[in-house]
Amino acid sequence: MEFQEVVRRRHMVRRFSDEPVSQESLDRILANAVRGPSAGFSQGQAFLVLTGEDLKRFWSVAGAAASPSLTAAPLVIVPMSVKRVYLDRYAQPDKGWTDRDETRWPVPFWYIDTGMAALLILMTVVDEGLAALYFGIVPEDVRPFREAFGVPDDHEPIGAIAIGHNAEAAPRNLRARRRPAQDVIHYGRW
Ligand SMILES: Cc1cc2nc3c(=O)[nH]c(=O)nc-3n(C[C@H](O)[C@H](O)[C@H](O)COP(=O)(O)O)c2cc1C
Repeated sequence: MEFQEVVRRRHMVRRFSDEPVSQESLDRILANAVRGPSAGFSQGQAFLVLTGEDLKRFWSVAGAAASPSLTAAPLVIVPMSVKRVYLDRYAQPDKGWTDRDETRWPVPFWYIDTGMAALLILMTVVDEGLAALYFGIVPEDVRPFREAFGVPDDHEPIGAIAIGHNAEAAPRNLRARRRPAQDVIHYGRW
């Protein structure tokens, strides 16, 4: 698919059929997820891939509000941020932040980089002819989620991405709600 077409078509889908995602598509989604940029090339990301019985367990611990049309999705990927990897990387001689002081990070690059990986997943999903929803894991579900899947304490899920085949009648038309370009883009100065 042409790049501009991928950007144009990308939107969140909340109703899936139960048709599986092919191994080829999953492999490509994951190959692209780890191809993103990261501060200092830290690569402090991890991805939990859930299908089948594991996925049922995910919905049972983190899907109280999820509709059956969402939980029909055959695949969920949970992208995670690992701050420690960034603090370790920036304590190396070429960066020199050996104090590991977090006030050096006014913007937490560990979240930014994981968000970039998530967007690569969303774009690859479109290119594969699939659909996805990025959704949050509510705070009270995070601990049960960690326990259910043995997630290390320093790995922080930034949300979850349900992936599958689109079963929506039509995409939501968000055109009227999209903020006008002149409200968000500033040439030269405010
Ligand atoms: C960080 C993030 C969290 C989101 N969380 C949810 C969510 O919990 N539930 C949901 O239905 N959509 C969620 N969305 C989807 C947004 O509602 C959606 O991206 C926005 O309305 C624009 O629509 P579009 O992505 O289809 O263009 C989230 C999107 C992002 C980027």
